[in-house]
Amino acid sequence: MLIFNTNNELVSHLKSVTNSKTSIGFVPTMGALHQGHLSLLKTALKQNSLVVISIFVNPTQFNNPEDLAKYPRTLDADVEKTKKVSSEIIVYAPSVNDIYEGKTVSQHFDYDGIENQMEGKFRPGHFNGVGTIVKRLFEIVKPTNAYFGEKDFQQLQIVKKLVSKYKIPVNIVGCPIHREANGLAMSSRNERLSSDERKEAAMIYQTILEAKKQFGTKSATEVTKWVERTFAKQNRFELEYFQIADEATLLPCVRKNKNKNYRIFIAVFVNKIRLIDTISVN
Ligand code: PAJ
Repeated sequence: MLIFNTNNELVSHLKSVTNSKTSIGFVPTMGALHQGHLSLLKTALKQNSLVVISIFVNPTQFNNPEDLAKYPRTLDADVEKTKKVSSEIIVYAPSVNDIYEGKTVSQHFDYDGIENQMEGKFRPGHFNGVGTIVKRLFEIVKPTNAYFGEKDFQQLQIVKKLVSKYKIPVNIVGCPIHREANGLAMSSRNERLSSDERKEAAMIYQTILEAKKQFGTKSATEVTKWVERTFAKQNRFELEYFQIADEATLLPCVRKNKNKNYRIFIAVFVNKIRLIDTISVN
């Protein structure tokens, strides 16, 4: 199992083992790997001759210092989990300095407005941080295909915009959400929940499933009000946002249009731990 901590070592290794016919599949992660991450690796293995995973908690995409400080860091366990999927996978686990070379700042990106909705609105600077790290990782790994989860649907759309605007020659592949048996979307942040919170957090998925059902006959405003009332009735979970949005522009649905695809997005705090989820309503 090859693990590289510096971009120089990774780049020279990749140069020595690839040629113009090699297809490199790349899975960028922040570690604390779960089945969702591993499913991305499995898809990448099926579609490429060589697979690279990066494990790096990127400081520039965190708007909340406590979230960054408490983000789980489990490199040894992550390497073991990766190895179980395939010992051929190359791990890139750089330091902040290897990536940022002393300047831990974000570049500014214009993603045609997608960045102003939901995660962008509630986490100022987040998508500049994501764009900065993803662009840097693409420059280092030079992947043929890169795999991103629909769990972070807005991030997936942001990355697609990034590669088209900057003409980065990589194919972006979106992958389905993996859930716990109770429906809770798998997330590295779930590690920070108590076992009770983890059980009860299934209500997030139950709520968006019910919202999807209601959206069949009700307006987006009516459904949003119902979700807000549902969260107001209990005190364990605090709703940050609920939005039914056009899947292409991510703009909120004001009046339903039969020709558009819509998606439900939600962000909820459980004891200061922020969880997000999404489902397609079409
Ligand atoms: P991270 O949260 O570690 O997620 C890495 C990848 O795994 C992302 O593409 C994410 O959408 C996907 N993923 C997470 N949970 C998933 C689930 N339950 N099912 C399927 N896929 C899932 O997203 C990031 O890291 C960072 O922002 C990153 C892109 C690495 C840039 O720092």
